[in-house]
Amino acid sequence: MNAVKMDTIQDAEHAAEHAAEHVAEHAAAEAGGMISIQGVSCYYNDHAVLRNVNLEIPGNRIYAFIGPSGCGKTTLLRSLNRMNDLIPSFRLEGTVRLFGDDVYAMQTIAEVKDLRKRIGMIFQQPNPLPTSVMKNMLMPVQEHYHGSGESFRDKVVEKLKIAALYDEISARLDRNALSLSGGQQQRLCIARALMLEPGVMLFDEPCSALDPIATYKIEDMLTELKKICTIVIVTHNMEQAKRIADQTAFFYQGEIVEAGETEEIFNNPKADLLYRYISGKF
Ligand SMILES: Nc1ncnc2c1ncn2[C@@H]1O[C@H](COP(=O)(O)OP(=O)(O)OP(=O)(O)O)[C@@H](O)[C@H]1O
Ligand SMILES: [Mg+2]
Repeated sequence: MNAVKMDTIQDAEHAAEHAAEHVAEHAAAEAGGMISIQGVSCYYNDHAVLRNVNLEIPGNRIYAFIGPSGCGKTTLLRSLNRMNDLIPSFRLEGTVRLFGDDVYAMQTIAEVKDLRKRIGMIFQQPNPLPTSVMKNMLMPVQEHYHGSGESFRDKVVEKLKIAALYDEISARLDRNALSLSGGQQQRLCIARALMLEPGVMLFDEPCSALDPIATYKIEDMLTELKKICTIVIVTHNMEQAKRIADQTAFFYQGEIVEAGETEEIFNNPKADLLYRYISGKF
């Protein structure tokens, strides 16, 4: 057998090994969770704000993070798509996997950009750009696919419908996004994030600036959205977590005290701290 053939066989064996590894990894990810957080500690300078967090977040569910202010919910959420990379003093130990892929092993800007395409994020305050609804919707796809606006029109309509906004604004996609109500702006931001078809959406207190009616609209929409997306939501609203979350994790001073099915967390809390937190005796 000549050297070239040897190489080919070795390459083929290597490729087969790699493929098997990949399949095994993804099977494990499916069994464990869409997002797997293993032994994660986070620091700003030398100050540990999260300690040894372990959590498996399953696909197509809503996972709520609850806990008092400053316990590290936002830090963990932003760590999932490496948003904290932008903070120079930030450091993470442990492993975060998105569907088997090691998020912190991603080295290149292209890889991290791709990660943020796979994990969308919505903040407390809606942040549409001061331009038309249509331009807001097209911005993410133009950056990633360099496509023309018209070719994405159907997709814009589809995503606005998923975000339960289309019926309210279909006649005026050219109106300035800032002329929408706060609740509409938040749904626009969700629709805009969906343009990249992320598998995961992170929400950091998305309803805290909204009235109850706008809040219910978003909650209804999230319950629909989970059919196509995995959702992680930080909320201070216990009723909201009870209404929409399948699972809930309770954080206290940088640690997960208790995590599990939302019903169990609220109806049958095991930790005294959790019991006191949800019953307002904190
Ligand atoms: N950029 C930063 N630099 C230094 N420390 C930070 C930074 N961001 C957050 N922290 C600290 O990390 C800890 C956790 O903050 P984090 O924002 O994750 O909490 P949280 O649970 O989201 O709180 P809240 O419910 O008030 O939003 C806090 O002590 C906070 O002061
Ligand atoms: Mg926060």
